[in-house]
Amino acid sequence: MNDRQNTLRINADRFRKRFDALANIGATTDGGVHRPALGPEHLRAREWFLMEATAAGLTTHVDGAGNHSAALSCGPAGAPVLLLGSHLDSVRYGGRFDGALGVLAALEILQVVKEAGVALETNLEAIDFTDEEGTHLGFLGSLALAGAITPQELRHPGSDLGVFQKALAKAGLTENSILNARRAPSTIAGYLELHIEQGNRLNTSADDIAVVTSIVGLRRQKVTYIGRADHAGTISMKERRDAGQGAAALMLSSRRLVMKEFPESVVNTGAIEFSPGAMNIVPQRAQLTLEFRAPKPHDLEQLGVALQQLVYAEARERELDVTIEEVDGIQPVQMNGQVQAAFVAAAEQLGLSHRRMASGAGHDAQVMAKICPAGMIFVPSVDGCSHSAREFTEWEDCINGANVLLQTAVAGIPSAD
Ligand code: GLV
Ligand code: MN
Ligand code: MN
Repeated sequence: MNDRQNTLRINADRFRKRFDALANIGATTDGGVHRPALGPEHLRAREWFLMEATAAGLTTHVDGAGNHSAALSCGPAGAPVLLLGSHLDSVRYGGRFDGALGVLAALEILQVVKEAGVALETNLEAIDFTDEEGTHLGFLGSLALAGAITPQELRHPGSDLGVFQKALAKAGLTENSILNARRAPSTIAGYLELHIEQGNRLNTSADDIAVVTSIVGLRRQKVTYIGRADHAGTISMKERRDAGQGAAALMLSSRRLVMKEFPESVVNTGAIEFSPGAMNIVPQRAQLTLEFRAPKPHDLEQLGVALQQLVYAEARERELDVTIEEVDGIQPVQMNGQVQAAFVAAAEQLGLSHRRMASGAGHDAQVMAKICPAGMIFVPSVDGCSHSAREFTEWEDCINGANVLLQTAVAGIPSAD
């Protein structure tokens, strides 16, 4: 890398202005954002992104999976593209930083490189992936780009199928367009992502940057217990076949199981629904979501088996029927060693302290790792808080992260040999 490239830095004021403008799209009164994938606020944020990119003199495109991109030709003709990105969707009532920071840093980097007029070995693309958060189908955009999504998966979203298909149509997407969004791996030089940590470790260790070593694997299921609707006042406690009790028991016993037998793993029930859903009716049906995560493939598999046994045991004990529908899942992955080394070199060049860290959150980088060298860096989350309006990262840390990403992008990723 020459001296000119070494001294490139992001424009912190412009980066901040864009961050604030984006945080206004889908802003909630408590300082967070609500931009579930393919909803009106999310679509507005994506439109805004394309407008900003165009105004910055970048070319834009949207692929068949709805991934929104800004591109800069700064490499030799026919050179592969180095993707920088994250996601503009949020969880329901989430925070301003998750995903947004990575997309805005990517956009800023392309603009800085364009303004400096430097030639790199690759072209650059800032990409906003569709539905990273799994409002409908987790990692939809990156899976489609990697050619790793099937028609079967598209017919089993985490949301209701009708709702999903309507949302796709509104965004101009079809099953076919999604299945055709695959890109040849030979056209991609790598994928780099800046993200907030979403946990408390950087905050506690007081390091500036975490270089991510691996990303946790996860599985998501819908568990449905079926019992019998009865009058809540007249049927005795003993006679009830209460589907709600099955769900409640599973929530408690799955937590006990994980804490006792899978100490490196986690389980969560984040949504539950009873029907008919009235105070005076014994629940006939209870559907809950079961999401579990483990750092190693073997643990993820063993945990899946143990949880399945638990789901059935709770049903048997209460004379309930039960079904398990697999919604989505992804294996744990290692981040590319050369990319990690490149991030470390960039952090050192910028005089920033750094450490290595495994990610407990899922990210598009774990999908991209299937087809190209992929890596991530984290910046500190105050109080380790995320997926909440309380999510916060000091602005100086955001700038540091963006500059590490910039320096890594301009240096390029050394090949393995
Ligand atoms: C993505 O934020 C996840 O749920 O890990
Ligand atoms: Mn995220
Ligand atoms: Mn998230």
